[in-house]
Amino acid sequence: MNKKIAVIKGDGIGPEVVSEAMKVLDKVADKFGHSFEYDQLLMGGCSIDANGVPLTDETIERAKAADAVLMGSIGGNTATSPWYKLPADKRPEAGLLKLRKSLNLFANLRPALLYGELKDACPLKAEIAERGFDMMIMRELTGGLYFGTRKTEEVNGVITATDTLTYNENEIRRIAVRAFDIAMKRRKKVTSVDKANVLDSSRLWRKIVEEVAKDYPEVSYEHMLVDNCAMQLVKDPAQFDVVLTENMFGDILSDEASMITGSIGMLASASLNDTKFGLYEPSGGSAPDIAGQNKANPIATILSAAMLLRYSFDMDKEADAVEAAVAKVLKDGYRTGDIMSEGMKLVSCSGMGDVITENI
Ligand code: IPM
Ligand code: MG
Repeated sequence: MNKKIAVIKGDGIGPEVVSEAMKVLDKVADKFGHSFEYDQLLMGGCSIDANGVPLTDETIERAKAADAVLMGSIGGNTATSPWYKLPADKRPEAGLLKLRKSLNLFANLRPALLYGELKDACPLKAEIAERGFDMMIMRELTGGLYFGTRKTEEVNGVITATDTLTYNENEIRRIAVRAFDIAMKRRKKVTSVDKANVLDSSRLWRKIVEEVAKDYPEVSYEHMLVDNCAMQLVKDPAQFDVVLTENMFGDILSDEASMITGSIGMLASASLNDTKFGLYEPSGGSAPDIAGQNKANPIATILSAAMLLRYSFDMDKEADAVEAAVAKVLKDGYRTGDIMSEGMKLVSCSGMGDVITENI
């Protein structure tokens, strides 16, 4: 197959980790007889430096014209980078949010899986790590607090900031349907996470999830309050299969879930709309402190490329080959610094990309 992939390397470690994922994709193309054409685009801080804005309309159009988007990470050090002196809507993150919204990428899939080989890197107690876990966080990505109206104004002489959290039933229904569909291909359990003891938007969330659940009699589901979920993730992560939640809760819980896998450098993600199109990026950030040193962990980005093959191109065996290569190199003891433990072989970012590529 001939496919066009828009590539947004971004800022910080983004260019390094995306280059490794492209190396892997080239090997897949070679081995399975495909051809991938790349269109490299700027977004985030690098786009601010080049174009004065974090995302141009031309970039949106070129991303839309591709079959899928592979992304690294965007943003810099919020305390020191000049990008954070700009008004909020001109900062790197504003570009990412605008891109998600423009491409209607409402379904964010963040798989958190503890590899047997990385049990030592898991910060949880050994008996919890021993049980392992394999969950899919389904985060709503184009609604809620991230996209509600916001303002900062003076009210009776007091500076007051307001953000609004809005969900309509259609936004909830389409993400819930995605979560139940995915649960059908997994262990058939959905945990819907909300704050229904306080928020109206969560009470509507619960009601709609219950309606959707009726169409999936084989899937067991439960509701869980977000504070309890944050606790359960470190107490008993094995209980989760698909975790369905709104935008802000999903942002927070997915970082927590990634950390218990051993490193945020392990967690892939896919952001999908209602077609085959998707944007694939590691869940972790741009890690400006280690940028340019060839020591970032490229595995999350490589696994994101595997998700791209699976979800946007229907290339299941190619995706399986990439995932198997990642598992193999971990088994063989190759580690980047973030997941290093005694007796293992320390490799650089490009070194990790090389050994994974060799195993495909
Ligand atoms: C993520 C990131 C983004 C988010 C930031 C960079 C805006 O934390 O993808 O989880 O909050 O969605
Ligand atoms: Mg986040």
